[in-house]
Parts: sequence; structure tokens; C-alpha cells
Amino acid sequence: MLSAAVAGGVFASPPPTSILAAILHLQNAGASGVLLIVKNYTGDRLNFGLAAEQARNRGVAVAMVIVADDCAFERPSKAGRRGLCGTIFVHKLAGALAEEGFPLDQIVAKVTEVLKRIGTLGVSLSPCSVPGCLPSFQLPPGDMELGLGIHGEPGIKRSKVSCADQVVKTMIDHMTNPSSESHLPLNSGDSVVVCVNNLGALSCLEMAVVTRAALSTLEARGVVVARVMSGSFMTSLEMAGISLSLMRVDPEVLRLFDANTSAPAWPNLSSVCVSAREYTVEPPALCTWSQEADSHPEGEGGILYVRFVHPVVTTLKVRVICCTLYSSGPLSPVMRTALQRVSSSLLDTREELNALDRASGDGDCGNTHAQAATAIQEWLCSHVVPGCPGQLLSVLAGLVQEKMGGSSGGLYSLFLTAAASHVMEGRSHASDWANAMHAGTQAMRRYGGAEPGDRTMLDALCPAVDELLKVTAAPPGGEMATLQAAVKAAELGAESTRDLTARAGRASYIAAERVTQPDPGAVAIATILRAVLESLEGQL
Ligand SMILES: *[C@@H]1O[C@H](CO)[C@@H](O)[C@H](O)[C@H]1NC(C)=O
Ligand SMILES: *[C@@H]1O[C@H](CO)[C@@H](O)[C@H](O)[C@H]1NC(C)=O
Ligand SMILES: *[C@@H]1O[C@H](CO)[C@@H](O)[C@H](O)[C@H]1NC(C)=O
Repeated sequence: MLSAAVAGGVFASPPPTSILAAILHLQNAGASGVLLIVKNYTGDRLNFGLAAEQARNRGVAVAMVIVADDCAFERPSKAGRRGLCGTIFVHKLAGALAEEGFPLDQIVAKVTEVLKRIGTLGVSLSPCSVPGCLPSFQLPPGDMELGLGIHGEPGIKRSKVSCADQVVKTMIDHMTNPSSESHLPLNSGDSVVVCVNNLGALSCLEMAVVTRAALSTLEARGVVVARVMSGSFMTSLEMAGISLSLMRVDPEVLRLFDANTSAPAWPNLSSVCVSAREYTVEPPALCTWSQEADSHPEGEGGILYVRFVHPVVTTLKVRVICCTLYSSGPLSPVMRTALQRVSSSLLDTREELNALDRASGDGDCGNTHAQAATAIQEWLCSHVVPGCPGQLLSVLAGLVQEKMGGSSGGLYSLFLTAAASHVMEGRSHASDWANAMHAGTQAMRRYGGAEPGDRTMLDALCPAVDELLKVTAAPPGGEMATLQAAVKAAELGAESTRDLTARAGRASYIAAERVTQPDPGAVAIATILRAVLESLEGQL
């Protein structure tokens, strides 16, 4: 792809003697001509130009192309259009043409034509840092800068940071805005190659988020993304930002772009899926459902046909799936109210649980529970609560497994699944609920590997279950008192975890003396049980 690269000092153009040495080296190695691919900076133009003249004087066939793919400035004046990451497209195409044996003048002609179809724009959340120097510019936290250069030259516009989708859309709009002199003309139906370039300090995760945003933004405009590359191709120093480069392609340019290269940093795209359509998994939008289900006699399950229209997959248009519809029963409103109460309590305690978890774990216990709570709220909005408690617990098991995530999601899901089979009758007795809670807790112990006293949620759950199991001996009408005692036991159990040394779960990795707060998982259990109690007290 490239036969030589000439390095200068950090952010400085290499001296002409170095450039000349590289040219002569290639000449001696048998090159029939040398093409210099130079980014549009004054120092580079001068030094490479001087070296080219000197080489020509020695009889070497030298040509030079200047890449100025910068789309930042609406009215480029003194600053001009700089050379940015689009330069790597030129490296690739010129390399492929040279490999195919084209003469120097034809390579220059082809590359010069393609230069007009390349545009790049950068955005960053931080300035770059040259070792031993102050940051190239100041950027307050929460601000981002659009249109900056790879050497930390300030950009054109500052704004507040927004989400990746929005930032990418702003960038592409700016790059292709016809009222800007440096724009890249781009119309619906055009094919492009996209390069999402890490300016130095982003993680792979962040790069993937931006790449996805770039794909969907372009495809939403009817642009065909023929190839996409994402990675570190032309970085700045430690700059937390990206640049987006677009190159409009036709089959000939694409063929050159695809040509084989053994350059180690060039991604082998031949087997990579490039369409946002193929890997975007948007939640399906619920559109219609048939009324057929309502005609089922009460107490019997029916089949509900739901039509989903995927917002992104237009080729699939409509998928019809079916799911079981549960019929409601006398317990439905009671359980619905209890679930609403549990969800809102968990959302209310989110920060408290996070804070407890920060002392002993990764600080996301409240968020994890809030995810489950939100999933339950959303489910309640669009579903009938089955009259059979066991069916409801099974649904909840599926919800937390899918939406809550982490080991808590797995543990709650185990609990609910094991509990479900004990309350499958339409009307369940208090003793059935107690047995269900007991079975769920046993399942957690069996698979989770923790025991009471290990400073986990079991320290709240086990004492509560012990109280609940006493319900069989309670006098008639004593169910509520039993539940009250169980909640009290859960709260005391949670509180007692202050004095326990973690032997299982996340907190077991932390030195004991640092853990003086109660275990967040146990506090969450107590919170859930209290919410259930309060909702029942209000209803029964
Ligand atoms: C390169 O930058 C100079 C300013 O340094 C500018 O005058 C010129 O127009 C730019 N070249 C291109 C091709 O945009
Ligand atoms: C590309 O390179 C691979 C491995 O080096 C080789 O198997 C393949 O045939 C090459 N493809 C073309 C089109 O030259
Ligand atoms: C690129 O990937 C394809 C498919 O995996 C493979 O056949 C080819 O040899 C690779 N090319 C290079 C240059 O590694």
C-alpha cells in the first residue's frame, strides 16, 4: 500500500533531507516513480515540495498530491482545508493503482479526481496533549469542540456534549451542508465508504457506539454505506474524540479500496457486515393486536396475535409473532398494585442502593434494580396481569433475566422460577406463598453458592422466610401479622449485614474493614418486601 513513511517531530513536518532520503531509497530499490501524498499543512507542502524538486533534479520521477479533505470551515480562507484522516483513502487507492502497474501520471490523475469526493470532520471532548507542553486549547468539562485538526488546532464551534447519535448527525449535516464551501456533496442513493477514526483516547466500546450512529444516520438519509472502517488510523495525542471521513465511491473506486494489502494496520473488511440494517436491534414497536383474545372465556388462556413493525428493518416490514395471553382473575388488581408499589420503591431507593454498593462493590446495585423496576412498569402498561400468581412470577422471572442483567438478574430469576410452581392455583393460600418464598430462597442458595451470614441478600430473605413459614400455625386472619413480622425480620437481617464479613458476592473482594454499611442486595430485598406489605395493607 505505502512504500515509505517519513516521520517528523511530534506534530512537525519532517525536514526535507529526511524526505529526500526516503525518495532516493525507493529509487534505489527500483521504483519507476514516487508519489508523495501530503496533507495540506504549510510546513508539509514546503518541505515535501522542496524534497520533490531536489529529487527531480536527480532524475527521479516524483509527483505530489495534496489532500485537503477538511469539511470544518464554511468559508475556508487563511486556514484553508487541512489534510485529515481521509488521507488514508488516498494511500489505499494510490497503492492499489501502483500495485496494478499504472504509470505515475495516471495514478495522479485518478487520485486527484477522487480527492473531490472525500470529506472529513472531527469532534473532541478534550484537547490533545503533546508531551511536555500545555494542552493545545482549553475545553471545559461537558463541552465538545467540532471541526478540530489532528494537531490540536482548535475547531469551528463549541457546544454542550450530547448523545452520540445527535453528535454524529450534527457532524454529517455540517459536512454535507451545501451552503458551506468545504462541504462534501452527498445525496440519497450515493454509495460511500465511511471511516470512523479514533483521535486517540476513545475505548472500543465508544468507537462502536459512534460507528453504529454513523451507519444509521447515513442510511436514514438513503446513503448506501458500502464499506465501514472503525479504529485508530490517524490519531492525535490522547484526544478524546473521533473524526468521520466519507468517500463517495463508484464500483471502480470500491474495487481499488478492496484490493488486497498486507499493510498490518489496514482492516481486512472482506468478511465484515457493514449495514446498520443488519445488526441494529431496536425494540420492536407494538402496532396492533387482534381482539380475538378477548373472546376467550374467563379463566382460560388464549393466544394473542401481536404484529410488530420493526422501525429499522424495512425489508422485513411485518413480523407476526404470537404469545400466550393470560386471563385476569380476582387477584390481578391486587398483584398489579403490589408490583407498581415495588417498582416505585426500587426507583426511589436507587441512589441509596448505589451509594451502599459504592462502599463495597461497583456502585450499580440501585441501577440494576431500577432497570428491573422500569421493565416491570413497562410490562404493566401493555399487559394484563394474569390471575394465576405462578404465571405472573414466571413472566417476572423472564423480565428480570432479560432486563436486569448481572448476577442479581440471574438470582432473582431463579428465585421467581422456583417460587412459581408453588402458586399455580388460581387462588393461593398464604401458606402457598410462604412455601413459594421458601422454594425460591432455596434455589438461590443452591445455585448462588451463598449461605445466610455471607453478607448477601439471603441475610434479609432467610429470616423473612422463616417468619412466613410460621403462617400455618397462625390463627385465622393472622396472615397480615405474619407478613408484618417477616418484613421486620428482613429489615433487621439487612441491618445485621453491617457487622458481617462478605464471603460471597461482590463485596467478598473488598477488605473487611472498608465495609461498614449494610449490604445493598439485602437492603433491596427488605425494600421489596416492605413495598408488598404496604400495598397489601392498603388493599386487603
Ligand atoms: C490548503 O491550505 C491552504 C492554506 O494553507 C489553502 O489556501 C488551500 O486552498 C488549501 N488547499 C485546498 C486544496 O483546499
Ligand atoms: C487476497 O489475499 C489472499 C491471502 O493473501 C488470497 O488468498 C486472495 O486470493 C487474494 N485475493 C485477491 C483478489 O487477490
Ligand atoms: C481477508 O479475509 C478473508 C476472509 O476472511 C480472507 O480470505 C483473506 O485471506 C484475508 N486477507 C488478508 C490479506 O489477510
